[in-house]
Amino acid sequence: MNDANAIEVAGVPTSALNCIDLSSSDIQQSVSLLKQACLDSGFFYVINHGISQDLMEEVFVQSRRFFGLPLSEKMKLLRNEKHRGYTPLFDQVLDPANQIHGDYKEGYYIGVELPEEDSGAQKPHFGPNLWPSEDVLPRWRQAMEQFGSQALNVAKVVARIIALALDLEADFFDKPEILGKPFPILRLLHYEGLISDPSKGIYGAGAHSDFGFITLLATDDVLGLQICKNKDAKPQAWEYVQPLKGAFIVNLGDMLERWSNCIFRSTLHRVIGNGQERYSIAFFLDPNHDCLIECLPTCMSEENPPKFPPILCQTYLAQRYYDTHADLDVYRSEGA
Ligand code: OGA
Ligand code: NI
Repeated sequence: MNDANAIEVAGVPTSALNCIDLSSSDIQQSVSLLKQACLDSGFFYVINHGISQDLMEEVFVQSRRFFGLPLSEKMKLLRNEKHRGYTPLFDQVLDPANQIHGDYKEGYYIGVELPEEDSGAQKPHFGPNLWPSEDVLPRWRQAMEQFGSQALNVAKVVARIIALALDLEADFFDKPEILGKPFPILRLLHYEGLISDPSKGIYGAGAHSDFGFITLLATDDVLGLQICKNKDAKPQAWEYVQPLKGAFIVNLGDMLERWSNCIFRSTLHRVIGNGQERYSIAFFLDPNHDCLIECLPTCMSEENPPKFPPILCQTYLAQRYYDTHADLDVYRSEGA
């Protein structure tokens, strides 16, 4: 957070985020850097996370290949009720109060693969994924599954550092009832080469905070992500987050804010298009669907009692997804 080094892009400052080196043996230093970042901006970089540069590059290549298909091919894999598959341009509206259309982005959701006949597939958001055919996109599924499983490991390591930063045992979130059956979602994103215009309500992605526990974001080298450290400030002050090759940009979601009784805050962010095409890959980690999100033991005291009632992870997430996505009926009425 060395503001003396901050540079500006088109009049917008860039944020100097703390960098957590997962290969470091100095765990105390990592905890302290992470804690400082969580109290300051809710965003930090994670480097030396163990996923090879080849695999990071391959998922971007595969993502480009998918979004490069004709729209009619992509619509064959349109998002289903389980929130798997393709989300077309404008499908999501993250900031309805300030946007005239939905987000200028297309996406693809991949979740935990569960066969239809598995009893677990009854739950909302659980079931089989939609996959492009191997003939159209060879090795696509393999690359996504490999990346998803490695990103899950990285997220679990980050969760251990978060636990320590909250004065919990390192393995607090590793408990079977919390991350025993985690609920990760991989989301490929493609922003068209559009120029955003906040004054007209046109954004790559509208201002939002993420819904869940933590998010790992890999981006290409095109600038676009902006954060607002103080969501209550008026007017809001935005800063760019610079892409960092090979790193993940990690941020905390609303569920962790609620869980930690607002000690750790989720941070408002948005994507501003500058005319260049941009690709990013988000990995959202959430706990077991039946995990009860109730104030963490180290985040309450007599002076600071829990601010929120306990809520099931699945109830919380289902509502947030429903609130921000188009009704699937709009595509049916378009004859898609
Ligand atoms: C998101 C998000 C940012 C980006 O998907 O929640 O904030 O850079 N993405 O794509
Ligand atoms: Ni986000």
